Amino acid sequence: MTDDPELAGQTVVVLGGSSGIGLETARRARAEGANVILTAREPERLYRVGLELGAKIAAFDVNDAERLTDFFGELRASIDHLLVSGGGPDYVPFADLDTAGIRRGVERIVLSMRIAVAAKDAVRPTGSWRRSG
Ligand SMILES: NC(=O)c1ccc[n+]([C@@H]2O[C@H](COP(=O)([O-])OP(=O)(O)OC[C@H]3O[C@@H](n4cnc5c(N)ncnc54)[C@H](OP(=O)(O)O)[C@@H]3O)[C@@H](O)[C@H]2O)c1
Repeated sequence: MTDDPELAGQTVVVLGGSSGIGLETARRARAEGANVILTAREPERLYRVGLELGAKIAAFDVNDAERLTDFFGELRASIDHLLVSGGGPDYVPFADLDTAGIRRGVERIVLSMRIAVAAKDAVRPTGSWRRSG
């Protein structure tokens, strides 16, 4: 049994890290010694959270393919853990899904693939990649 922080020296990136699941994950990662990088669209809330956690921040919409590619390309650290918690699906009962809802669901899959491609050189081979929704 040891009290050593589990993520000391590791880099954790949370796309959608200024609120909810992403923010709580970032808090836990910081508490375990990780260097944390957070993104979200709304810059002021992101800035406040970045200050609170001592995290690096980048404000952009994950649906902006160019910004997404630039973000991963410009990172100076290799990522140990990547959590995607922004731009997630709407929760709608299956029976209530209309065509627009189905299209949004497919778009989420496309977005996940786009993030995986954009991040492929930034995540360590031993790293992890998760979606919260
Ligand atoms: N809450 C639940 O019980 C639950 C359960 C399972 C799965 N999920 C899924 O998990 C995800 C997160 O849920 P949550 O409750 O933590 O949501 P939340 O509190 O609304 O947090 C979403 C985070 O993502 C950012 N974000 C949203 N859209 C974005 C976009 N297009 N580009 C960049 N950042 C974006 C938000 O900041 P900005 O608005 O500033 O961009 C915020 O930081 C959602 O996909 C949700 O469907 C939620």
